[in-house]
Amino acid sequence: MAGGGFVAQGEVKDYGYGVTMTMFVLMTCLVAATGGLIFGYDLGISGGVTSMDVFLEKFFPSVFRKMKDDSNNENEYCKFDSQLLTSFTSSLYIAALIASFFASATTRVLGRKISMCVGGCVFLVGAVLNGAANNVAMLLIGRLLLGVGVGFANQSVPVYLSEMAPAKLRGALNIGFQLAITIGILAANLVNYGTNKIKGGYGWRVSLALAAVPAIIMTVGAIFLPDTPNSLLERGHREKAKIMLQRVRGTNDVDEEFQDLIEATEASMKVEHPWRNIMQQKYRPQLTMAIAIPLFQQLTGINVIVFYAPVLFKTLGFGADASLMSAVITGLVNVVGTVLSIFTVDKYGRRVLFLEGGIQMFICQILIGIILGLKFGIAGVGSMSKGWADLVLVLICVYVAAFAWSWGPLGWLVPSEIFPLEIRSAGQSINVSVNMFFTFCIAQAFLTALCHMKFGLFFFFAGFVVLMTIFIFYFLPETKNVPIEEMSRVWKKHWYWGNYIPDSDIIGSVTNGGGASSSSSSSSSSSSSSNGSVELSKGKAVA
Ligand code: BGC
Repeated sequence: MAGGGFVAQGEVKDYGYGVTMTMFVLMTCLVAATGGLIFGYDLGISGGVTSMDVFLEKFFPSVFRKMKDDSNNENEYCKFDSQLLTSFTSSLYIAALIASFFASATTRVLGRKISMCVGGCVFLVGAVLNGAANNVAMLLIGRLLLGVGVGFANQSVPVYLSEMAPAKLRGALNIGFQLAITIGILAANLVNYGTNKIKGGYGWRVSLALAAVPAIIMTVGAIFLPDTPNSLLERGHREKAKIMLQRVRGTNDVDEEFQDLIEATEASMKVEHPWRNIMQQKYRPQLTMAIAIPLFQQLTGINVIVFYAPVLFKTLGFGADASLMSAVITGLVNVVGTVLSIFTVDKYGRRVLFLEGGIQMFICQILIGIILGLKFGIAGVGSMSKGWADLVLVLICVYVAAFAWSWGPLGWLVPSEIFPLEIRSAGQSINVSVNMFFTFCIAQAFLTALCHMKFGLFFFFAGFVVLMTIFIFYFLPETKNVPIEEMSRVWKKHWYWGNYIPDSDIIGSVTNGGGASSSSSSSSSSSSSSNGSVELSKGKAVA
């Protein structure tokens, strides 16, 4: 999931604290949950709102008229095609992408908690603007501000978590962050279902404004939270860092971990050219994965469902209520599927999940495409009986389940567990940026694509699913249970990537000119990299 998997697998160094539930750890969990919820709520809320009549009538009257006008046998696929309507959804992700670059510097220079506060506050303003919106401009500016908030939160929360959590809890928190995102999506679907029933036509305002709740928790939490020992060290406060580590761990006996933190900080500070490093031939496998995996994750088409499920179900002929309820059902399936992946990912490995998930998604997409083609045809005229529409809903659920235990969590986990320290920050930035960029593209293009490609759109995504499944089969080695510092061996043994890895890299470590020795690499994987560790990185990695 969201989190990078440095911690979920590989060897986690045991500093002998056990799993101590200090107040800090508790707060950390809370921040983790709110950070994920904020992102998930945003992913899930827009689709339901844009399917509400009152909202459409107020802000997008032409779409509303098109939707209501059955008289001219309007093409079903094109009912919701409006660039303005899609920009309401997509603007958030482009803002998040741009903001994350600024957030990266803020997180490093001013610390993680300042970044979280900034993110929470900007997000709050966005939620208020959206809830109070009277025109499209207010809506869009609000969405952009939410995006800035998400950019900051996704940058700083995962870093904060990975640095605060004791090693033994880090894996759980890591996947818990992704789980929180799916719960956020589900919460948004439920809220939409409820607010749609509000008489008086202001339900959409409640939906949009409720985004403020997790944001307030995160902002207030961040005000009271201390900064992480890693961040204090990075900014030169060595004494304070040690005291903080003692408080966080609930014991004075932290020397060994503190020493590791210092080494990891020093090593990461010596990494001068992460961007140049990652271009070296020996990092070609990691660079390829940092681009291909997030790109393919978005090309599964999942966000078509996450963003537009209610709109899609309306297109299929479901009533408003049934559409929103169907979105709740897919949201629930998404949560359950993610939980399943937590229990299977380290047992069966990444490849099995990727391959099985790919095949399952492919079958569903093909069947959905065929059914839509038969019922609406190329002209997009027709209707669907309840039985057929229910079958489409079931197929969508089976598809979402497959995504939720494969490309959903693994799309974040795998890229983040394959970068050695010297390219970690650059690699994770690429991963996150590519993901956000294609999330934006899908959000912006879907409704138009549905209008023009019609049922063929499902075949289009199915084609990519075939491509990505073949790609995984041939090019992704199994990384389950492989400590990070051993990862170069995995690539070296691979039939294709082996050619890119010089033999000298295999002896013992992944040392390179950046000064990351095997020991620093190992300590960073067992604690967290002080340059803004990426262990829990749905969002951002590079502090
Ligand atoms: C993806 C999001 C998607 C979510 C659905 C995440 O892994 O990055 O784009 O909306 O899963 O659960």
